[in-house]
Amino acid sequence: MENDDKSSRIRGFYDLPLKKRHQLLIERGFLSPQELENLCSEGNLPLEIAENMIENVIGTFSFPLGIGLNFRVNGRDVLVPMVVEEPSVVAGASFMAKLAREGGGFTAHADDPVMIGQLQVLDVKDLQAAEESILNQKEQLLGSLVDVDPVLRDLGGGPKGLETRQIPHSAIGPFLVIHLLFDVRDAMGANAVNTACEKLAPHLEEITGGRVHLRILSNLADRRLASAACTIPLESLAFGEYTGEQVRDGIIEAWAFADADPYRAATHNKGIMNGVDAVLLATANDWRAVEAGAHAYAARYGFYRSLSTWSRDQAGNLRGKLELPLAVGLVGGATRVHPGAKAALKLMGVESAQELTEIIVSVGLAQNLAALRALATDGIQKGHMRLHARQVAIAAGAEGEQINQLADQLILDKQVRIDHAKEILNSWK
Ligand code: MEV
Repeated sequence: MENDDKSSRIRGFYDLPLKKRHQLLIERGFLSPQELENLCSEGNLPLEIAENMIENVIGTFSFPLGIGLNFRVNGRDVLVPMVVEEPSVVAGASFMAKLAREGGGFTAHADDPVMIGQLQVLDVKDLQAAEESILNQKEQLLGSLVDVDPVLRDLGGGPKGLETRQIPHSAIGPFLVIHLLFDVRDAMGANAVNTACEKLAPHLEEITGGRVHLRILSNLADRRLASAACTIPLESLAFGEYTGEQVRDGIIEAWAFADADPYRAATHNKGIMNGVDAVLLATANDWRAVEAGAHAYAARYGFYRSLSTWSRDQAGNLRGKLELPLAVGLVGGATRVHPGAKAALKLMGVESAQELTEIIVSVGLAQNLAALRALATDGIQKGHMRLHARQVAIAAGAEGEQINQLADQLILDKQVRIDHAKEILNSWK
């Protein structure tokens, strides 16, 4: 398997020149030359497409696109496109995916793609009675929405449930909230759900005698959870002077900090989102929606906590789990029109939103492990330094071969700062 052409374990990829990396992706059949061009060319979003995506377009804006290596998700190898501006993210995820692979890779699961649409019903005299009337007519109400999106209907999506909630205390007094549960199949779902909510509103007004105010999707997509788990064999954790036990226990201690303290949990979860967002960006998905949902979910017990858990299994190995709401789409939205996003999906070989979700949640878990392993051992700066030093060198004006030379010098001097970089550059003139 490790020698398989489609293996995600590509030794030496990091050291290959960029052109050779491209060649390898074509030779191994991950992408056709045209798909590679769509994915990787500078400015891979044609202006005429960009102009139709948002308003007041004056251009496009590029970020680095890297490949997360070594990922095996539910027994399948996958190369993961990651768009991110921060050094060490892609390297960290790839390295941790390698450790996870030694324990069989990631096991991931995505719920059915059921989103929640919210309707705020105001001016209702008797909330209890209104709730009962709605629930009594639930089937008819859901039935009225079956044909809202014929494509979704034919794919098995559409309205799946209706729930009522009372908000007893608010700045404007008590009111009713109706949740429409809507299966959006391979879409992120905002458009389908918002349309369905707007269609449902007059029926609810009729039944309750109230006034429907807001009609909008909720980003706390907790009916659309994704989870990933991995086991890192104890022996794979040992490195340098650290034993496997030390690294494992250090990671569990670091996780416990995040699980108990919101100040730490925010940073811990940000590390998870480094990986999640990078794949969302590469596939032109709505990362703000996922961010909002993830953080709201992290606070679901009324206390902001870690989205992941780390523990030791019976054999003493490290076991990690991550769960978060993940609303992603393959159809509709920008993913459908962005040539790079389309090629990114091809690279991963995903054919459903659920498959994409399972990869993304696995990358989040790998990214979390990378941060915890570094923090629990050498500290985060050591790994960051090399790429950071290169960025400082470039910012100071280094070009070509000078970049690596200057970065090495900054690290050697233990002064990775722009003023020092400029000083050295000047001394080289
Ligand atoms: C930096 O982008 C992410 C980390 O701060 C995450 C963490 O502290 O767990 C390293």
